[in-house]
Amino acid sequence: MSEAQTIQWFPGHMTRTKRQIEKYLGQIDAVAELVDARIPVSSRNPDLKKLTRNKPRVVLLNKSDMADAAATKAWLSAFQAAHTAALAIDCKTGRGLSKFQPAVREVLAPQIASWQRKGMVGRTIRVMVVGIPNVGKSSFINKLSRGNRAAVEDRPGVTRSNQWFPIGKGFDLLDTPGVLWPKFDDPVVGEHLAFTGAVKDTVVDTEHLAARLLEFLAQRYSQPLCARYKLEPAELDGLAGWEMLEKIGQKRGMLMAGGVVNTERAAAVVLDEFRAGKLGCLTLEWPEAAR
Ligand code: G4P
Repeated sequence: MSEAQTIQWFPGHMTRTKRQIEKYLGQIDAVAELVDARIPVSSRNPDLKKLTRNKPRVVLLNKSDMADAAATKAWLSAFQAAHTAALAIDCKTGRGLSKFQPAVREVLAPQIASWQRKGMVGRTIRVMVVGIPNVGKSSFINKLSRGNRAAVEDRPGVTRSNQWFPIGKGFDLLDTPGVLWPKFDDPVVGEHLAFTGAVKDTVVDTEHLAARLLEFLAQRYSQPLCARYKLEPAELDGLAGWEMLEKIGQKRGMLMAGGVVNTERAAAVVLDEFRAGKLGCLTLEWPEAAR
């Protein structure tokens, strides 16, 4: 669990981050916005456009290794239709990362042409990497800068400082100045962040959370759900989330004295297995057109 995950959101953080981003706006050319490919809506900062004053932007659908490939494809089409540059990446293996620099060059084409006209050939392109905690910013910077320091800043108790990371070919990355918040006042957003583990379990009721996740999975991904927990699809018919949780606890033999199912343990298993990708590559939020 990284330090960022324990942060309590309060207006002071937002003001500080806003001020820090503003301070760097004059030094950057573009923004790389990391979102979680499984929850591209909930993992976005609602105020980013305003905060970065509409700087050219490339959206990076990170953790695409854990997302449903069909959903990621649908998201890329949706972003394209909205004229927003977007790429699917995976910072575990580095898949998709080679497309990052070309994508930034493309969104900056008018500026690059103007620099060339002014004789500024080979000017370094500076990109600010932004995203909510746990979305993979350190991993992204680390992968592109080949381990040049980003991870060091992630030790518990060490404040992440603003730093530039050269990544070659005339590109510098700036680590997020400050902590970027999600749309935490929206309960659905909170739930989706909790499903993926972006929010600490100690601040949520895990049984309720697992029950809600099971309801979603039964609706959208009943096949992988049934396969994982050895259930027949008909067994789930008309069941509420907590009943599915009991069924799974029963199947896995999580019984307490008197044969009562230990739903707390079952909930922890369901959440852990979902987060570890054991149910497969699943996406919780699809673009409107693909729902
Ligand atoms: P942050 O700087 O935005 O806070 O995120 P960070 O890079 O620390 O990544 C948060 C967690 O997400 C890390 O896992 C990291 O390994 C994982 N992660 C980042 N990018 C990807 C990706 O593309 N795919 C997958 N599957 N995981 C990714 P962790 O459990 O906190 O640490 P560890 O397991 O790497 O030790």
